[in-house]
Order: sequence, then C-alpha cells, then structure tokens
Amino acid sequence: MNGTVELIIDGKPITLPTFVGTEGEVGIDIATLRSKTGAITLDPGYGNTGACKSAITFIDGEKGILQYRGYDIAELAQKSTFIETAYLLIYGELPTAAQLAEFSGLLTDNEMLHEGMRHHFEGFPPSAHPMAILSSMINAASSYHPNLIHAREEHFPCHAARLISQVRTIAAFSYRKAHGLPSIYPKTTLKYTENFLHMMFSYPGEDCELKPEIVKALDLIFLLHADHEQNCSTSTVRMVASSRANLFASASAGVCALWGPLHGGANQAVLEMLEEIHREGDDGTKFLNEVKNKTGNRRLMGFGHRVYKNFDPRAVIIKEQCDKVLAQLHKSDPLLDIAKKLEEIALHDEYFVSRRLYPNVDFYSGIIMRAIGIPVDMFTVLFAIGRMPGWVANFKEVMDDRDSRISRPRQIYTGATLRTYKPLAERA
Ligand SMILES: CC(C)(COP(=O)(O)OP(=O)(O)OC[C@H]1O[C@@H](n2cnc3c(N)ncnc32)[C@H](O)[C@@H]1OP(=O)(O)O)[C@@H](O)C(=O)NCCC(=O)NCCS
Repeated sequence: MNGTVELIIDGKPITLPTFVGTEGEVGIDIATLRSKTGAITLDPGYGNTGACKSAITFIDGEKGILQYRGYDIAELAQKSTFIETAYLLIYGELPTAAQLAEFSGLLTDNEMLHEGMRHHFEGFPPSAHPMAILSSMINAASSYHPNLIHAREEHFPCHAARLISQVRTIAAFSYRKAHGLPSIYPKTTLKYTENFLHMMFSYPGEDCELKPEIVKALDLIFLLHADHEQNCSTSTVRMVASSRANLFASASAGVCALWGPLHGGANQAVLEMLEEIHREGDDGTKFLNEVKNKTGNRRLMGFGHRVYKNFDPRAVIIKEQCDKVLAQLHKSDPLLDIAKKLEEIALHDEYFVSRRLYPNVDFYSGIIMRAIGIPVDMFTVLFAIGRMPGWVANFKEVMDDRDSRISRPRQIYTGATLRTYKPLAERA
C-alpha cells in the first residue's frame, strides 16, 4: 500500500509519498525534496537509490531470489531456453508456439551482418580486446540501418531481433579475426546457440560437431545472464536510452560498462586469478591471505555482490552445471579444484563471512566456458550476448514510459569556490 513518510530536515518536517512495489519493497518518492527543502540526497554507488520502477526482474538479495517477469530463475534454467526467456523478458509473457516461431524467424532473418561491415573488422589490430570490437561494431551496425535513429514503435520487434541476433555474429567474427581465422557465416537451419558455436568453431567446408551437452550448457549460461535488474551496465543502457538515443547506441554503451572487472569482466578476471594461483603452485591459501591482508589491493574475484548478501542463485546452478559438463566431456580441470578449495575456505573464513561475501555467477562460469573451448578474452563477450535481451527489455521499458525524463543526477560540489583568473606570468 502506498503511504507517506515524514522527514525532519533542518528542524522542519516534510511529508513525502512512498511507493510500494509488488514484492513489498518501499521507495520514498523524493521528487519534490529539492523544491521543498533545497536539499538533495547523496548516495555514491547508488546502494540506496531506486532509479526507476521496473516490471522486468525481481531480486531479493537477502533471500537469494532472482525472478524474470515473476518466474524463478531455477525453474527457467530447468525448463526454458535462452530465446524463449529473451522473449519473456522483452514482451513480458512466455510466448505461445506461434509467437516463439515468429520471434525465432525474425532472429534468423536478421542474423547476417551488412556485407559492408566486414571491412570494419580489418581496422582492428590483432591485439584488440573483443569487448572493444563488440561495442564499436554494435554502434557501427546502426549506421547500416539509418531508420533506427528515428525508430518508430512498430519497427521495435525487428530492431530488437536484429540486435540480439547480430551481437552473436559480431562476437564470433571478432574471435575469428583475432585468431586469423576465416569468418564463418551463420546457418539459417541452426538455432541461436548452435549457430554461435558453428560460427566460432567451424571451418569452411568442415562444420564443427555440435555436442548437445555443450549447446545446452552454453544456452544455460546465456539464460542465467539474461537480466539482473539495475546493475551498472543496465543502468547505463537506461541512462543512454533516456536521452532518446537509439537501441544500438544504448546497447553499445552497455557493453562498455559491462567490460570492467568489477562487473562483467569479472569472469575473465576469475580465470586469470585461478591460472595465476595454479602457476604459483599455491592451493589458494597464500592467495586468500593476501586478499584478507589487503596486500596488493587484491580481491577474490567472483566473490561478493552489491545485492546478494546470502547466495547468488545463479552461482548454485552454474556450479552444478560445471561438474556436469566436465563429467560429460570426460575432462578434469585443476582450476576447478582450486576454485572449489577457495570457495570452501572462504565460506568458513571470518573475513568473508562477516562481509557476507559469497560466490557470484562469475566464479564457475569461466570454467565451463574454458571446457567448451572459449578463449578467456571472449568470456565477457559471452556475458554481453546473454545480457542483450535484458538490455533490450530495459530500453523498451524506458521508451514505453510516457513519464520518462532524461536521467540527470545532481551532485554536491566540493571544489574551489569563486576565484579570479591569474595571468600565466603571475602564477607561482
Ligand atoms: C561485486 C563487488 C564490486 C560489490 O562491491 P560493493 O558492494 O561496492 O562492496 P564493497 O566494495 O564496498 O566491499 C565491502 C567490503 O567487502 C570487501 N570485499 C568485497 N568484495 C570482495 C572480494 N571479492 N574479495 C575480497 N574482499 C571483498 C571490500 O574490500 C570491503 O571490505 P572493507 O569493509 O574491509 O573495506 C565486490 O564484491 C567485488 O569487487 N567483487 C569481485 C568482483 C566480482 O566478482 N564482480 C562480479 C559481480 S557479479
């Protein structure tokens, strides 16, 4: 139930309305705070700030709950597919058979890049990180579809499908480019995740084997990454969209935000950390001591989360999948043993327990991707492919909201007060 709250600011009471979400969270609506009191809120990192109302994803970090459009993540992971879940996120309901067929058809129709885009790949040096290529190429793709810039509502399904489909093609092309391999075009007969593996690992005249267990594991990774409410990259997408920038420009900004090691880049950072521990012959104990003593500013990558203070439900599903995939592929990985050891120690260690740090989605996902043959610098790119439907859904929510305003936070200024300009000769 919506109500009010009374605050005392500088000794003066002010009444503000509250807004209660469908799962019971209470937000204090401070839209009139500045005009009534002259004060603003200060919340670096936004840990206490609701930037929007959203009907897409619900998280209860205390209880370890994650739901897409009201469906529990564990149920979707077990019963759904990435593409069906993408439809659910964007359009709000699970598709009927006809709607799913239409959505899949749109994805297939839009999977080819404009041929003119191929030469852009040539401009990147071999050392280019695939995330740099991905964000540039998503933005470049908008130049080939000028009607995107003033997109009308009825064109949204086509633009959304084009982005979700082409991000996978761009990702595979950038991998092939980085490894000096010929580009492989998508096949209309293959489903979304199969097609990605085909473009990554086939050769002209020699299609790679699409093992069902690998396709399933990768599809699950995409599904588990598909949305995660107002994280850094999704907030970036919404921020850019609020200026009425187009879908591709907004998504390209999302890729840049995702790249950092504290966000999507953590999956690459986890693998590099595990490799380093393995190289040094440490069983994890020495490394964890360094983390706890804060020597060298190190963190246990893949641990901790701004919202989950109990456990990350995605991490539980991924860990299980990790064991399954390695068993199915008859592989063992010393890095998995190190990861398990680190988890075991950390979950009983006062430093991690008191700070409520638990494994997050990135802790085990890299081990699965490595087993599938995905190179480490592509890990965050795969995260971006998975997150695309969530970004599209959030973009749509901003565009559909007739009350939406441009995002424009304020600040508390802490710099110099007014002073006069000194000519160069008079400066000490
Ligand atoms: C995810 C993350 C950025 C959340 O950050 P946050 O909510 O701002 O939390 P803080 O950075 O304020 O950390 C709170 C405390 O826990 C510690 N901490 C947080 N994550 C830690 C980690 N992974 N390893 C060691 N210490 C960690 C901080 O040093 C801090 O300790 P202090 O109170 O002694 O200063 C952070 O946990 C992190 O850097 N994790 C590793 C990167 C990662 O896996 N990111 C993927 C997220 S899905």
